[in-house]
Amino acid sequence: MKTFPTSAVWCFGILFISVSLITTGSSEVQVVGPADPVVALAGDDIILPCSLEPNVSAEDMTVEWTRLYLKTNVHLYLDGRDSNDEQHPSYRGRTSMFHEELKKGNVSLKLTRVTLSDAGSYRCFLPTLTSQVKETTIQLLVGAVSQPVISIDGTKDWGVVLKCESGGWFPEPDMEWLDSSGTNPPADGPPEKHRDSEGLYTVRQHVTVDKTDTNMFTCRVHQTEINHLKETEIHVPDDVFPKSQVELIIGLIAAAVVVLAASAGVYMWRKYTEEKRELLEQQVKNLKLIREVKRDALVVDIHRVHLSQNVTLVIPIAFFLIRSERYYEIHAARTRQDQMKLLYQALEEAEDTRRMKSDFYRILLDLEPDLLIDLGATFVDVNKDQLIQKVTKVKPILLELFYEKLYCNTRIHQMTSQDQMRQLYQALEEADDPRRVKLDFYRILLDLEPDLLIDLVKNLKLIREVKRK
Ligand SMILES: *[C@@H]1O[C@H](CO)[C@@H](O)[C@H](O)[C@H]1NC(C)=O
Repeated sequence: MKTFPTSAVWCFGILFISVSLITTGSSEVQVVGPADPVVALAGDDIILPCSLEPNVSAEDMTVEWTRLYLKTNVHLYLDGRDSNDEQHPSYRGRTSMFHEELKKGNVSLKLTRVTLSDAGSYRCFLPTLTSQVKETTIQLLVGAVSQPVISIDGTKDWGVVLKCESGGWFPEPDMEWLDSSGTNPPADGPPEKHRDSEGLYTVRQHVTVDKTDTNMFTCRVHQTEINHLKETEIHVPDDVFPKSQVELIIGLIAAAVVVLAASAGVYMWRKYTEEKRELLEQQVKNLKLIREVKRDALVVDIHRVHLSQNVTLVIPIAFFLIRSERYYEIHAARTRQDQMKLLYQALEEAEDTRRMKSDFYRILLDLEPDLLIDLGATFVDVNKDQLIQKVTKVKPILLELFYEKLYCNTRIHQMTSQDQMRQLYQALEEADDPRRVKLDFYRILLDLEPDLLIDLVKNLKLIREVKRK
């Protein structure tokens, strides 16, 4: 029987062992982790991936999860179970491994409720592995975000100042403002950033925006490392914006137009009322003139006898008044009485008798004022009792003669007209120039109550005639 030589058996054996050693022990089982950092937000539950490549079972292996630099124990899997007696207190109750997955070589660690201080480098280490690559490092980034808050912070020039604020960020975020077309309105300086005692960042930025089609503005806060973005939109109502220059100019023009129209209106109205007033004044003046003419003529008529007897400057008066043959006749007449008679005739013959008589009276007032003053004052004196009894229109007389002294005295308005007349007589006597004021009184009486005067004059004449006889 033919047998294999023992040397050949040994040779094959060694070869087999070497090959199997290469394929199992040196079959290079590696620990692999993710190339990118694991990103989480504070409060999240996360998985730190770690597995064996190829997928050999890790059930019987030791798995150590530690912090790479801090060397703290995060989680330990030993002798087929979790073994966390030495675990750092900050990870207590928050770590676990997927026991079902171990046989697939999945040794990932689950970490719940991550905090900012969990951020850092983690070491997944399998010390029982015989291969060269027994560990891997996983980066954990923990971020914090919050919704930005926008507020309206007043106005500036023609725009509205908006404030955007967002606190509780980690790592430090960027903030930007956008209008509805996606462009950045001019910010009032760079964003302000500060960090609170918990290490979180607050960012704030003011921006001045002008009116747009939509008046929608967005504040965007983003953090590239944790790839998070939060934004808030605001609609600024139209009426919050200060009136723009164009609107202001239109407003000013409108205001100017209104003012112009108003002043034109006022001007027209003033002019209208002015014209009306002038017209009225003219009418009043005319009426007054007519009244005066009437009054003067009345004096000339009713005091014919007195005047005929007392006027001395007949010739000069006639010269002024009478531009006719009559003048020469008057000039030629021998006595003053004759002259006066002719003068009166000429007055009666005139086209406008009244006017002529009034002129006569005025010339007399110029040339022989005492004569008329005497006439008036005497009449007022002589007829005192009659006038006190008979004058009824006392108030207008007071108004014209003694406006300040008597008319403004409230008591006088409650008196009877007789008492008012007594007051008036007293005032006449107390006046600076009583005779002159009496003449004025007399003339006003002629205006207001001519019939009364005519009667009184007639009575006087009668008395005189009776006396003469
Ligand atoms: C490990 O297991 C967990 C839980 O089932 C899973 O989410 C994760 O993707 C697994 N990792 C690998 C590398 O298979």
